[in-house]
Amino acid sequence: MQKDRILVVDPCILAIESSCDDTSAAIWRNGKLLCNVVASQLMHDKTGGIVPEVASRAHQQVIIPVVKRALEQAEIRPQELDAVAVTHGPGLMGSLVVGVAFAKTYAAGLDIPVIKVHHMEAHVLAHFATEKKPQFPFLCLTVSGGHTQLLVVRGPFSYEEIGRTIDDAAGEAFDKSGKLLGLPYPAGPHIDQLAKEGSPKFEFSKQNIEGFDFSYSGLKTSILYFLQKEVRKNPDFIQENLADLAASIQHAIVESLLLKVEAALTETGLKQLALAGGVSANSGLRLEADKLAKRLGVELFTTPIKLATDNAGMIAAAASFAYREGRFAQDDLAPAARLTMRV
Ligand SMILES: Nc1ncnc2c1ncn2[C@@H]1O[C@H](COP(=O)(O)OP(=O)(O)OP(=O)(O)O)[C@@H](O)[C@H]1O
Ligand SMILES: [Mg+2]
Repeated sequence: MQKDRILVVDPCILAIESSCDDTSAAIWRNGKLLCNVVASQLMHDKTGGIVPEVASRAHQQVIIPVVKRALEQAEIRPQELDAVAVTHGPGLMGSLVVGVAFAKTYAAGLDIPVIKVHHMEAHVLAHFATEKKPQFPFLCLTVSGGHTQLLVVRGPFSYEEIGRTIDDAAGEAFDKSGKLLGLPYPAGPHIDQLAKEGSPKFEFSKQNIEGFDFSYSGLKTSILYFLQKEVRKNPDFIQENLADLAASIQHAIVESLLLKVEAALTETGLKQLALAGGVSANSGLRLEADKLAKRLGVELFTTPIKLATDNAGMIAAAASFAYREGRFAQDDLAPAARLTMRV
């Protein structure tokens, strides 16, 4: 049983993120991030994707050093902490278990509460760990490795999901297309870099889906068939056109995302647009979203790249809202690989 807690005004929170292949710890105090340490697992590029058990073991190996480094960087002693926040889902079960077990044990040792954080809520609330914060309500396009969502964000724990992918996420579209080009996993950042040197001269099939939903499986198939056809004629086609192919793939994904964003902004009348999730690091998406926002007279919010991809800073920002409301986890907190967002 959780005991009644006296809430402090400016809590000092240790936040942990381990839902996928990044082990991260952050410290939050006085309404801001003191540090945000991220240890990324680099071995997955060899397998072309994440092997869950390998990810879980790697979290086990680095979680204590990562937390120690965060405490050192923030110059905080464990006794000064008021809560430990942790991602409890969604994500890979073996990865989540490491973070949740660590957080519960660490908090129990210090006799402080645990705050459970939904990974996708944290991607959205990462904006509150930055200087320039949106005001509720705002429209958020969350684009990551496992999700593509258009959300009307009414409050820290109040969302309306007005659009979602019906198949692959935008991050998967980047990663799977990049794999076809022979790029290492995750291919998103490589496509971003290559696209800067190329032009979007190749056309792939466009998403054709009603409303605010997204679909990327058609794009992937269209790229596959196009490459097969061209490589049959010229075996060096991919190498000779790598930058233009990357630019064309990026253009297709960004265009399809922003088409729905524009429709959603027009229909909802919202005047603030936030980009969240790993794919929001994409420079082409940022550039085009900026143009769209200016054209529509909407304010655009992006985070520094480190707060866009998986990191514990966003978990800390989300936890700061939960702490204020005294939303603490029960002692039997368990991770959940699948978890819907509270609405
Ligand atoms: N600059 C970039 N351009 C395009 N894609 C990028 C860029 N940087 C990262 N990504 C993509 O972002 C994804 C990772 O994002 P994130 O870490 O938020 O996802 P995840 O945590 O694996 O998934 P989820 O948040 O849905 O559980 C990968 O698909 C990666 O390719
Ligand atoms: Mg993520």
